[in-house]
Amino acid sequence: MKDTSNRFMFTFGSSLMLFTSTVFAEPHPGKALHDKADCMKCHAAKPYDPQKTTDYPKLVKAVEFCNNNLNTGFWEEEVEQLADYLNQEYYHFEKP
Ligand code: HEC
Repeated sequence: MKDTSNRFMFTFGSSLMLFTSTVFAEPHPGKALHDKADCMKCHAAKPYDPQKTTDYPKLVKAVEFCNNNLNTGFWEEEVEQLADYLNQEYYHFEKP
């Protein structure tokens, strides 16, 4: 009896761990947009620079600027996701 319940706890525990690590391994939705729009076509040579874009609202503006220039036609939500992704990867600003 005791043996069975231990095995249950073990199985339950490890599937919970698997579940959590899958959630964390999921790529940021902004990364897919970034790949799709080929932002690195220019920004590989022009690295994202926190000295230049100095806070989060400016980062959103910069993403909007490139979005408009490129005619990628991202929605506001997608611009937000892109900005959040760039923030997480490169800028590390406090979000307002
Ligand atoms: C055709 C080339 C080109 C492409 C493609 C491009 N950008 Fe840009 N980007 C620029 C230029 C030019 C600037 C502004 C001038 C500068 O920073 O030297 C800029 C500036 C930026 C900045 C601010 C830069 C900084 O130093 O902080 C961000 C953020 C940015 N772009 C995001 C994006 C995103 C996201 C995409 C993809 C949707 C993208 N860009 C695609 C050319 C491009």
